[in-house]
Amino acid sequence: MCPTPRHTGPADWRETNRARWDERVALHTASEYYDQDGFRRVRDVIRDFETAEVGDVTGRTLLHLQCHFGQDTLSWVHRGAAHVVGLDFSEPAIETARELAAELGYGPDRASFVAADVYDAAEAVPDASYDIVYTGIGALNWLPDVVRWAETAASLVAPGGFLYLAEFHPLCDALDEETGSRITYDYFSRDAWVEETPGSYTDFSAPTANNRSVEWQHPLGDVITALAGAGLRIDFLHEHDMTMFERFRALRRNDDGFYRFPGNRPRIPLMYSVKASRPGPAE
Ligand SMILES: C[S@@+](CC[C@H](N)C(=O)[O-])C[C@H]1O[C@@H](n2cnc3c(N)ncnc32)[C@H](O)[C@@H]1O
Repeated sequence: MCPTPRHTGPADWRETNRARWDERVALHTASEYYDQDGFRRVRDVIRDFETAEVGDVTGRTLLHLQCHFGQDTLSWVHRGAAHVVGLDFSEPAIETARELAAELGYGPDRASFVAADVYDAAEAVPDASYDIVYTGIGALNWLPDVVRWAETAASLVAPGGFLYLAEFHPLCDALDEETGSRITYDYFSRDAWVEETPGSYTDFSAPTANNRSVEWQHPLGDVITALAGAGLRIDFLHEHDMTMFERFRALRRNDDGFYRFPGNRPRIPLMYSVKASRPGPAE
């Protein structure tokens, strides 16, 4: 068997990224992108493809790994989840999520939030396992070791439950930013991308102080193999022709809010989603 190669990167990756994320919480809660006032009214920002793929969550327990300040997490409560737990390593994000939950009238019996590193999730969350472990949309790129991530996340899936991941497609990491059509970067690189970029995807020109980031790309095969290796059964791997932001300047925003290549261009996958189950005792 060919083991997944190890990723490399600076030893201070966690502190570096946490400082960046801590600072961006206030920026994001004030942004048009996250539209907190709109969220307070609508209470649900889950994308249609996720709704269709995750299915009915009524009465189920759900753990959201890398939950940011909880909009997605609380959306699942609105959709009927019995109890949700959000985990993120950013204290300001978790504080904001707790405030938002209280504002919406959800007590800790419906929604609780934990500040912890995702690799420490098994020790940090209140319950041993959950019906649904939900994560993604800009989560895996912050983690150096996808095998350890999969083992941790899989250990928290209850028998008969599943993990659902929706992520940006790693093929995008290999293509040029302008057209998204030229292979410019190494798809298989295991090196960290260390960058200094002010602002955020909610406002690229926002003045910010903690601008260093350490990220990694994870080829699709690594992610799926890690989930299977952690004992989960892959139910589906879907690839999507749309994404959630202007990843390449050639993309166009469609009426449904997603970004796609113009109709005259051959398509590539821009996002993917995976459902991976832990078989129950009878299966
Ligand atoms: C792009 S956001 C996730 C976005 C989320 N889907 C949303 O839009 O609300 C990535 C999140 O991962 C968190 N994060 C990054 N590295 C982490 C780690 N090692 N452990 C826990 N959380 C981490 C960040 O604090 C941030 O909130």
